[in-house]
Amino acid sequence: MTDAREIAFEMIKNTLEQKMFLADVKAKNQNLDAQDNAFVNMLVLTTFRHLTYIQKILRQFIKKKLNAAAQDSKYIFYLACCEILYLDTPDYAVLNSYVNLAKKKTDKYVSGFVNAVLRNVCKQKANLKKEDDGSFFSNEFFHILKQNYGKKTIQKIQKASVQEPSLDISVKEDAPLWAQKLNAELLPSQTLRLKNNGKITELAGYQEGKWWVQDFSAALPVKCLSNLNGKKVLDMCAAPGGKTAQLCALGADVTALDVSALRLQKLQENMNRLGFNPKVICQDALVYMDEFKQEPFDVVLLDAPCSATGTLRRHPELVYIKREKDVEKQAQLQEMFLDKVSPLVKKGGILLYCTCSIAKKEGEQQINAFLAKHKEFKIMPISSKELCGDETLGELITEEGFIRTLPFYMEKSGGMDAFFVARLKKEA
Ligand SMILES: C[S@@+](CC[C@H](N)C(=O)[O-])C[C@H]1O[C@@H](n2cnc3c(N)ncnc32)[C@H](O)[C@@H]1O
Repeated sequence: MTDAREIAFEMIKNTLEQKMFLADVKAKNQNLDAQDNAFVNMLVLTTFRHLTYIQKILRQFIKKKLNAAAQDSKYIFYLACCEILYLDTPDYAVLNSYVNLAKKKTDKYVSGFVNAVLRNVCKQKANLKKEDDGSFFSNEFFHILKQNYGKKTIQKIQKASVQEPSLDISVKEDAPLWAQKLNAELLPSQTLRLKNNGKITELAGYQEGKWWVQDFSAALPVKCLSNLNGKKVLDMCAAPGGKTAQLCALGADVTALDVSALRLQKLQENMNRLGFNPKVICQDALVYMDEFKQEPFDVVLLDAPCSATGTLRRHPELVYIKREKDVEKQAQLQEMFLDKVSPLVKKGGILLYCTCSIAKKEGEQQINAFLAKHKEFKIMPISSKELCGDETLGELITEEGFIRTLPFYMEKSGGMDAFFVARLKKEA
């Protein structure tokens, strides 16, 4: 029988070896009951949040290179160390579970070795906890950040990114009322932040379609648009539909396009629940733009595919699977999108570009290069006042008038994903 720890083992192994998002690996493990599912999620996410330190201490305990038969034992060590150091599982339970798992996944010689190493880790637990330096970023991830940020900022990003995110939601209307009903904090831009760890689908207003899950940062781009009632808006990479819902709630005539049928299914479910009815198109945006011969749109929202390196709080595995070359690959794709988008935006219309990447190559630098090539577009600077009515969110706005959020902003309230937004106007 497959138990929860074996599933956690498979998830860590597949994520690291195949450089996959945990969410994509998880999809294969749908047959777990709710309690086991919650345990697996917590175990795997906590392991990734502390893996750099766990790897460092394992180097003290395992001096020799693992031979071929023992290769998979490293994933067992990662999970077991996580339980010993961060989940306070009793030593006997850790030893019993992971030695048995080692017997199943490797062989009896390796399981003996696992037993010996884990006993040593248990003995030194108190010291190891004391010496924890909070390391989270891998060398490769540091390399991505060093392209754009100084040492002190990177340290602040690291500290904030390891925190578990709260649940943020966007409401259709009357945010203060829903903040009361859900016992949530009302953030300056009207996003609600919940400490609640219960089941989302059981919270008040979910089934009735009064709100949807959306990180504070992800909700900012659409807050830069006003007077959308009846305006033709193209949401170019729309699924699962957080921004589509915002656009619909503002009365826009929305076309939601995405290349992924699976993700569009999720978007459609969300729209049905919320009672919105955008036009949905499943197509590669690059083909759509090549073939485009209709009336241009008042607004094109390009929430471009990106490295997602701004979402570490939710996806700590990215620290181990993203490299500088992934950032470059996505930046090239974004450039292709941007080079084709102009004919879709009507004269005097708006192009709203955003990414959930922390790398400036996918944000500030991308847009500055675009503006140098496409003289018909100019920056339409964004202000804090538009986002929240006053200067409270001033630190999120760059000199040029872009939004650049970083995980340590609004730290007292629990931080935010890193995000970039540029609002550009096409010449009339
Ligand atoms: C950052 S997510 C979009 C999130 C969405 N805008 C929201 O707010 O919920 C990027 C999306 O781009 C889509 N995508 C990637 N390549 C694409 C392409 N060539 N054409 C259209 N959509 C694409 C992905 O399927 C993914 O759903």
